[in-house]
Amino acid sequence: MYPTLNSRQEIHRWCRNFPGTKAQISEARRFVNSYLGDRPETYTAELVTSELATNAIRHTRSGQAGGRFGVTLHAGTTLLILAVHDEGGPSTPHRCQAENTDQNGRGLHLVESLTTRWGVHGNDGGRTVWALIPLSPAGQPT
Ligand SMILES: Nc1ncnc2c1ncn2[C@@H]1O[C@H](COP(=O)(O)OP(=O)(O)OP(=O)(O)O)[C@@H](O)[C@H]1O
Ligand SMILES: [Mg+2]
Repeated sequence: MYPTLNSRQEIHRWCRNFPGTKAQISEARRFVNSYLGDRPETYTAELVTSELATNAIRHTRSGQAGGRFGVTLHAGTTLLILAVHDEGGPSTPHRCQAENTDQNGRGLHLVESLTTRWGVHGNDGGRTVWALIPLSPAGQPT
C-alpha cells in the first residue's frame, strides 16, 4: 500500500477519476485547487498533480482510448498525501539520469524536489504514484 493517514490523522479524503486525455490535466489541477483552497501548499500540489497525471496518460494505459486516471488527496493537519492512480503498463516510474540533456525525464526530478518523499505502489496492471507534501498548520483545507 502507499502510505495513508490513519483514521485519527486523516481529516479529509477526496478522490476523483478523470478520462485519460490531456485536457483533463487542468481539470485534475482544478480539483486539487478546489479542495485545498487558498493555502501556501496548493500551488505545489497542483504542480505535482500535473506531472503525475501527465505521466499517467503518457506512460500508461490510462492514456489509451477509454483510459482513466484517478487523483486522491488524503489531508491531515500537517501532511497531505497526493496520489495518482493509473492503469499500468510495462515501464516503471523512475528518475532519469541527472546528466540526461533530453527535454524529457524531468518530471519526477521536479516531484522529488517539491515533496518530502514520493514512491510507487502497484504493478503493470495499475500503479499509484504518491507524494507527501507537508502542510503548514496555520490553514486547514476548506
Ligand atoms: N505512471 C507511470 N507509469 C509507468 N512509467 C512511468 C510513470 N511515470 C513515469 N514513468 C517512467 O519514468 C520516466 C521518468 O518520468 P519523468 O516524469 O521524470 O519524465 P518524462 O515523463 O519522460 O518527461 P517529462 O520531463 O516531460 O516529465 C518516464 O520516462 C517513464 O518511463
Ligand atoms: Mg513526466
